[in-house]
Amino acid sequence: MQLTHRPRRLRRSPSIRGLVKENHLSVDDFIYPMFVMEGENNRVEVPSMPEAYRFTLDLLVKEVEENYALGIKAIALFPAVPEEKKDLTGTESFNPEGLAQRAIRAIKAAVADVIIFTDVALDPFTTHGHDGIIDDNGIILNDETVEVLVKMAVSQAAAGADFVSPSDMMDGRIGAIRQGLDNAGFENVGILAYSAKYASAYYGPFRDALGSAPKSGDKKTYQMDPANSREAIKEVYLDIAEGADIVMVKPALAYLDIIAKVKDATNVPVAAYNVSGEYAMVKAAAQLGWIDEKKVMFETLLSMKRAGADLILTYHAKSVAQLLATGYRP
Ligand code: PBG
Repeated sequence: MQLTHRPRRLRRSPSIRGLVKENHLSVDDFIYPMFVMEGENNRVEVPSMPEAYRFTLDLLVKEVEENYALGIKAIALFPAVPEEKKDLTGTESFNPEGLAQRAIRAIKAAVADVIIFTDVALDPFTTHGHDGIIDDNGIILNDETVEVLVKMAVSQAAAGADFVSPSDMMDGRIGAIRQGLDNAGFENVGILAYSAKYASAYYGPFRDALGSAPKSGDKKTYQMDPANSREAIKEVYLDIAEGADIVMVKPALAYLDIIAKVKDATNVPVAAYNVSGEYAMVKAAAQLGWIDEKKVMFETLLSMKRAGADLILTYHAKSVAQLLATGYRP
């Protein structure tokens, strides 16, 4: 048969496929989310997230050092705040001696080059588990919340954070945080904005890890409706106009279309958050022997890059880094 085009010519061998491969997974693109807890010399596996742990500060630092040697240079830090430190307005969030602030200082003292992204949201610090301050009727108060978020971000910057990452979805928080950081002399601290963060059921295992599930109601008055995509672009434009250095889409796998649209609509780096529920599904199916874990992990993360993600927050970061280091190619 005479065919002008035979696309299979470019698929004949691994070497040829390597030449024409459009997207690659690299540890350079990963931000590794890590959980820190109080105590000493201890780590606790998150039941719904096999191989993801809450570390005490001493072990967290060791883990960061080990991962840095594997090429993981960026982490996203999440504190598991003890119940007795929580209150209605999340005041512990801006305590200079808070768990997150101590963790930042300890990590920076051990490996100064590690890039620390801190979470800016009140849910791990409030007794009710919402990302904002609530009034007597359970309404989330936007502007009052933003005031606390600014204090929180500034205290993280003072501790040595490289990027603050508002994940709360209050209106106007990026601009207020940018101004707060600048006024405090932290003009070099960046903002990774959780711009298109959806009200998703995929966050369940993360809330188990931190004990941060909302005690009542849901997050639908601040996180986005999964039915919407144009609204994501609006949120992204607002955040960029207010000073976001990097914008994020979250979750990732069920929102690849949003990642692609955001990439097309902007000229800032786009991050994708491969969230806890996405991780849990892969782990659970692999444990049952129903999928090939390594291959599914690589294929999933590659799909996020192909969709347009420049950076990926993923709990798989360490496994991928270890596999790449041994020469594994899917
Ligand atoms: C807190 C926050 C959440 C996640 C990151 N920051 C949970 C939530 O909004 O309820 C989820 C991350 C994950 O599921 O991996 N604002």
